[in-house]
This record gives sequence, structure tokens and C-alpha cells, in this order.
Amino acid sequence: MKTLIIVIHPNLNTSKVNKRFVGELEKYSDKYQIHKLYELYPTGIINVDEEQKLIEKFDKIVFQFPVYWYNCPPLLKKWFDEVLVYGWAYGSAYKLKGKRIGLCLSTNGNEEDYLPNGKHKFTLAELTNSFIASFSYIQADYQSFFAFYGSQFNVIRKRLEDETKQYLAFIDNL
Ligand SMILES: Cc1cc2nc3c(=O)[nH]c(=O)nc-3n(C[C@H](O)[C@H](O)[C@H](O)COP(=O)(O)O)c2cc1C
Repeated sequence: MKTLIIVIHPNLNTSKVNKRFVGELEKYSDKYQIHKLYELYPTGIINVDEEQKLIEKFDKIVFQFPVYWYNCPPLLKKWFDEVLVYGWAYGSAYKLKGKRIGLCLSTNGNEEDYLPNGKHKFTLAELTNSFIASFSYIQADYQSFFAFYGSQFNVIRKRLEDETKQYLAFIDNL
């Protein structure tokens, strides 16, 4: 079964990291279904029914996004608020129960800065805690995250190629 990759980037055209990841994933349409939230919902009005139907079709789901203010871009927060509702995601029904979930994050910050004594004070594992709590609440099976750190460097081409391969391997092993 294919993996659903939900991409949440407000401008993939100007992106380096997420655009490269998406470009690679799109080569394997037999394995990955790409779902670009900002392209589908440029006005921010989410088709909740369609989103729920889509989610129900997949057992493995990855949320891929750039870190914005130590969190996700706002459309993903809206998606969580509107799609993961009582009676579908939790309460009388748990439609994501047992689904394997991963996160893919990109950051400007370097990995060594995402440490308790570093510039960003917290690790990405800590900063993703609210996602992990949410996935736990809806009884989804959160696995782990993949991170591309240090996206501000001009010379990331080789590293980006290597890490693109690692990202695909991460998805396949979810
Ligand atoms: C509004 C905004 C907030 C950001 N906040 C953070 C942040 O909290 N930590 C960080 O490391 N990078 C932050 N960044 C940098 C982005 O994460 C980075 O540019 C992105 O991951 C690079 O991926 P891309 O090439 O696909 O756009 C922020 C960027 C923007 C536009």
C-alpha cells in the first residue's frame, strides 16, 4: 500500500529542501501519494470531508513541513483543528487508530543548536511533543521524525541529495 505524504509548505516554488524531497517522491507515484495542502487550499478553506476520506485510505502517513516558530505552518494547525474532530478522530470513532505516522521537518537551525544548551534550547524531539500527544490521543501509531537541519547554508546540494535518499528510506521503514 502507498504512503500518504501530506506536504505543508506555503511556497514550494521558492523552497529548496521540501521541493527537492517532493521532486524525488514524485518519481515513485506507485509508492507515495503526495498531498500538498497549500496548493489545494490557497484560501485556507479546508474540505474536511475530502481530507477525512483520503486519510481513511492509508495506513502510513507522513506530515512533511518546514519548522515555523518551533512549530508547523498555520495551515497544518488548522487542518488538525478541523479534520481531527470528535466522532471521527476521537470519542465515538478513532479513524486513525493504528495508522503509522511520521513527521518530516526542515529547519534553518543546525542540529547542535537544537540542544538544551544550544541557541534553540530544545531538541526537535521535545518540540514535536504536542504532535506526539495529539497522535497518541487519537490512538494513531506515531513512529518518529526525519529532520533536515541547517537549510540556510548555500552549499547544501550534496547533503540535500544524500538526505533526500535517507528521507525516502525513512518513509519506507516507517
Ligand atoms: C515564518 C518562519 C518561521 C521560521 N521559524 C523557524 C524556526 O523556528 N526554527 C528554524 O530552525 N527555522 C525556522 N524557519 C526557517 C525554515 O524552517 C526554513 O527556511 C525551511 O525549513 C527551509 O525549507 P525549504 O527550503 O523547503 O523552504 C522559519 C521560516 C519562516 C518563514
